[in-house]
Amino acid sequence: MSKVSLTINDQTVSTESENTILQAAAQEGIFIPTLCHNPLLKPEEACRICVVEVEGEDKLIASCSAKVKEGMIVRTDSPLVLETRKGLLTLMLEQHYGDCVSPCHMTCPGHLDIQGYIAHIERGDPIEALRLIKEKTPFAATLGRVCPHPCEIECRRNRVENAINIKDLKRFAADYAAERGVRVTPAPPPDTGKKVAIIGGGPAGLAAAYYLRLKGHAATIYDAMPKLGGMLRYGIPEYRLPKAMLDQEIQEILDLGVNVNTNKKFGKDFTLASLRSEGYDAIFLAIGAWSSYKLGISGEEISGVMPAIEFLIRNASGDPPPVGKKVVVIGNGNTGMDAARSCLRMGAQEVIMLYRRTKAEMPANPQEIHDAEEEGIKIHILATPTRIISKEGVFSGVEYLKNELKAADSSGRPRPVPIEGSETILEADQAIVSIGQFSDVDFFKQETELKDAAFTKKGIPETDINTFQSCIPYLFLGGDLLRGPRTVIQASADGREAALSMHKYLTDGVVSSDARTFNITKGKLKDVDQVNFEGILSRPRYETPILPAAQRIKSFEEAELVFTEAQAKDEAARCLSCGCQDAFECRLREYATIYGVDQDNLKSWKKRKYDIIDKHPLITIDPNKCITCRKCLNGCSQYQVQYAFDLLQTEAAEKIGPPVYTPSINDRCVSCGYCLANCPTGALSEKSEGLPGPWKLEKVRTTCPYCGVGCQLSLEKVGDRVVKVNGVNAPPNYGHLCVKGRFGFNFIYSDERLKVPLIREGDEFKEATWDEAFDLIVSKLKETIAKHGPDAVAGVSCARSINEDSYQMQKLFRAVIGTNNIDHCART
Ligand SMILES: Cc1cc2nc3c(=O)[nH]c(=O)nc-3n(C[C@H](O)[C@H](O)[C@H](O)COP(=O)(O)OP(=O)(O)OC[C@H]3O[C@@H](n4cnc5c(N)ncnc54)[C@H](O)[C@@H]3O)c2cc1C
Ligand code: SF4
Ligand code: SF4
Ligand code: SF4
Ligand code: FES
Repeated sequence: MSKVSLTINDQTVSTESENTILQAAAQEGIFIPTLCHNPLLKPEEACRICVVEVEGEDKLIASCSAKVKEGMIVRTDSPLVLETRKGLLTLMLEQHYGDCVSPCHMTCPGHLDIQGYIAHIERGDPIEALRLIKEKTPFAATLGRVCPHPCEIECRRNRVENAINIKDLKRFAADYAAERGVRVTPAPPPDTGKKVAIIGGGPAGLAAAYYLRLKGHAATIYDAMPKLGGMLRYGIPEYRLPKAMLDQEIQEILDLGVNVNTNKKFGKDFTLASLRSEGYDAIFLAIGAWSSYKLGISGEEISGVMPAIEFLIRNASGDPPPVGKKVVVIGNGNTGMDAARSCLRMGAQEVIMLYRRTKAEMPANPQEIHDAEEEGIKIHILATPTRIISKEGVFSGVEYLKNELKAADSSGRPRPVPIEGSETILEADQAIVSIGQFSDVDFFKQETELKDAAFTKKGIPETDINTFQSCIPYLFLGGDLLRGPRTVIQASADGREAALSMHKYLTDGVVSSDARTFNITKGKLKDVDQVNFEGILSRPRYETPILPAAQRIKSFEEAELVFTEAQAKDEAARCLSCGCQDAFECRLREYATIYGVDQDNLKSWKKRKYDIIDKHPLITIDPNKCITCRKCLNGCSQYQVQYAFDLLQTEAAEKIGPPVYTPSINDRCVSCGYCLANCPTGALSEKSEGLPGPWKLEKVRTTCPYCGVGCQLSLEKVGDRVVKVNGVNAPPNYGHLCVKGRFGFNFIYSDERLKVPLIREGDEFKEATWDEAFDLIVSKLKETIAKHGPDAVAGVSCARSINEDSYQMQKLFRAVIGTNNIDHCART
């Protein structure tokens, strides 16, 4: 074979004259995407995603089939090539129906892999579930208690009966590990020598510290309060979030080597300039929203009226304020709810909440409203306070106007309009006001380091919401300070993402937001094609176990309880595993991300067009995800030579366009799974015992244990559990496997698997040591030979033994024992 020289992307490449452009590029590490190409088979040229520009050619050419030529000038990345690939992918995806990832994952502000952790729980592995959760947040136990779970709103199970109890499953995994003293946080890598100061030790600051340490950067938290936790400690009351549990969760973060300076207030005890002079390379600012809005009505300053935040902070700090017999709480968000329910536990006999709209618009979590009412809290709706009433300078009641609801305002909620003459007086002996919080950041203007900063209307430095980097490059902002009051999961997600941006800033000097990973979706919950839910049996949701109301209000004891293992597994088993099983490996998705397919404007199918084909015992076919690349069919007919795979022409296709064919498996199938291994999309997927994940899998190469061929396997595992097996593209099998090698791996976890020698005693088998087992074999062989001669015994050697072992085995039987009764298990 002769060599030729060509240029690929301005790089001179010398390669064999028989090679294709694709092979020449691969040899130099130049990436060209492929979908239909199988390097062991004749090029099919079905997908054309591998096109490149060759000087002198009027059309783009498929690099998987075009041979190299002397002097050829090739471009794999010209604007025309990139646009063409994007166009081809868009066409394929327009004829596609699926959810790359589940809607719960998409809706969660922290993008937790909910489907993945639920599948771990269902398979009886809560520790792995926790490990997966901690990839995205260090607050599993906290969120498992207080997250308002927006993910559950989009849960597809709502279309069958009720959402999966995602929040409580998270708590179960966290509490299961905590009860057993198991921690899953990995050890941090070696120190990078970079230092980050974090101002504010709430969930945003703590999450930033956690993920910065996991990148090897030094992290120091400064906080104005005596203890860390922010609103988790000083806002959310003990009965919802026990502080002993919070302490444990925070300690796990600090144990990564985070430095802490409490009782240090930014703007008073230190400045950005002083931190810079201490050598911090980056600063994360997450001081939350700790100031309360005022009602703006007369009498608000008098004794007996207190902002809810102040009430809760004093309570959490061990300095509980006095509580009246009859308390009125103005406002109905989560903060007001916490204050109202705390008052009951502190001895108030009557607690009334005033809210200007109706229950349907209340910002508090519906479950909390339910629990509060069950505890005896009264909610007066459609009420706008107009005046605080006092007697001798002390609060004695509030006057309010009744409202009617009119057309929606800018918030999208109906506008409450007071009804003239509807003044009503509500007598009480204490008022707690909770109508929202903000960040009091007036002192920012005094910061010398911010003198050139551009400020937003809220008075914070302008900040990129995707990278969290402010207009001062070393300064990053996140959490409630950046967004206004939100949730723990949002603050934690901000902290994590800001940490990843700071990592880029500290290592590359530049911060850019990552390309958005492509995700196709079947649609919003209400729009999803009903066909997806046909035949699913209704199974009621396990609701959060909770103490009876009468017991709850007696103390600050934690009100909600945790699922038992059986309940958690059962609840997890309700999950529909909505996300595609191929999400982490699908090349269509990977390329759609690389080439920037516009997922927001993609006119993909919104109805399922083809039935799912489920009759094969090991493989499920979803023709709605097939791109007609023919890799399955070619592999089956040309490599396995089985002709068991068909692409059947469909009638409907003509009207709508490709795929013109749908995949199908016929009776000749020997279940080698080569089609499955070749399919570049989720059109073919493996049936699994238990929920299928999917998870990012770790690959371990090994030799197949079944027979003596020595096929090379890639065991694909998550934690210690093998969930898939693939062939390795190396001798002797070159990616190919038989049914046993590919699918028969569940014996690993069988309770009946022999792991130690067993000796029969009567009808029972008893565990024995290897010495005991060998002694017994030797004595029985000797006994039988002595009684009946050497031909009364036989030996069977293992096909997986090396040649030397097999040789010794036959020598033992022929030369030592004196019989030819020796064989090999591959022939039995
Ligand atoms: C009463 C209440 C109940 C809530 N309930 C829920 C709930 O059930 N579920 C939910 O998801 N969310 C809830 N939230 C919201 C949630 O707690 C917040 O969104 C979240 O804590 C914001 O995190 P953060 O880190 O941005 O700020 P914070 O948690 O507010 O932390 C800010 C930190 O900065 C420190 N700090 C402030 N000023 C300075 C300064 N000048 N110098 C140094 N340090 C400073 C503070 O001491 C604090 O530690 C609730 C909030 C409140 C107030
Ligand atoms: S086959 Fe690929 S593109 Fe289609 S839903 Fe699955 S992961 Fe997404
Ligand atoms: S059924 Fe499972 S995967 Fe689907 S949205 Fe609900 S929790 Fe997520
Ligand atoms: S089923 Fe066959 S034709 Fe369809 S995408 Fe998979 S490998 Fe290609
Ligand atoms: S045409 Fe080359 S990979 Fe499909």
